[in-house]
Amino acid sequence: MDDLWQDAMDHAVAIARKSGQMVREALRDDRKVMMTKSSSIDLVTQTDQKVEQLIIKSVKEKFPTHRFIGEESVAAGEPCDLTDFPTWIIDPIDGTTNFVHAFPFVAVSIGFCVNKQCEFGVVYSCLQDQMFTARRGRGAFCNGEPLQVSTEEDISRSIIATEFGSNRETEAIDRMFSSLRKIVCIPVQGVRSAGSAAVNMCLVASGCVEAYYEIGIHVWDVAAGSLLVTEAGGVLMDVEGGVVDLMSRRIIAANNRTLAERIVKEIDSFSPTRDDAPLPKQ
Ligand code: IPD
Ligand code: CA
Ligand code: CA
Ligand code: CA
Repeated sequence: MDDLWQDAMDHAVAIARKSGQMVREALRDDRKVMMTKSSSIDLVTQTDQKVEQLIIKSVKEKFPTHRFIGEESVAAGEPCDLTDFPTWIIDPIDGTTNFVHAFPFVAVSIGFCVNKQCEFGVVYSCLQDQMFTARRGRGAFCNGEPLQVSTEEDISRSIIATEFGSNRETEAIDRMFSSLRKIVCIPVQGVRSAGSAAVNMCLVASGCVEAYYEIGIHVWDVAAGSLLVTEAGGVLMDVEGGVVDLMSRRIIAANNRTLAERIVKEIDSFSPTRDDAPLPKQ
């Protein structure tokens, strides 16, 4: 079985590279917003859809029995069920808003789970040409170089990454800023938003930021990145402490337990629904 997953991972790396090339080409001449999804600022472009179709088609040809959870397929009505079957979890462009604005953190994210456990994760940061890879039990790498999380234990000497999502309902905004205020005022040395969950997790895995947290993410945002973090020596935690459920739409990814637990203390937690929030009232 081991060799089979290696084969699948090699395929994921190749197809992520090809997808990245498509993204770079589209960045020059085709990054128009096609439509919005859950809210007026939740964007999707033709490139998101084309890249996802390319990945699914090529994987289906090679692994016809495998299943898929892809962001744009789910948006088109496909189920979002993580079963025990081998499942590819795809975010064709993580950082669509960045892509539309040519803000340079745009990633193709491919996670692969069997029995609900991630076996490998591939995140290709297209504009930096950085290929992040992790295989369960075999470490995390960027362009072949091993990754290691930061050894910092003190949150006041840390940079924390988080995002502002696309839910602009007052209640959601208030909760988000209440948590963020507490974290800023610890004080931490810095707060950052890459605009891509996958890139934020690669930054944790690389030791550039100590932790990343977000409520409102989806499984395709974090499946690949979560393995990068744990294989680089980091930890995943639910925002209320305890084990992360990748389907729960919330996550803390940190360099160590001390920092993760400290973030748990500061967060006003809540459970997003399975679907995105509706459009804010005008
Ligand atoms: C989004 C990005 C963003 C995060 C959102 C995600 P998308 O993914 O990862 O950083 O804040 O929660 O939905 O829509 O660009 O693939
Ligand atoms: Ca999206
Ligand atoms: Ca995403
Ligand atoms: Ca996406």
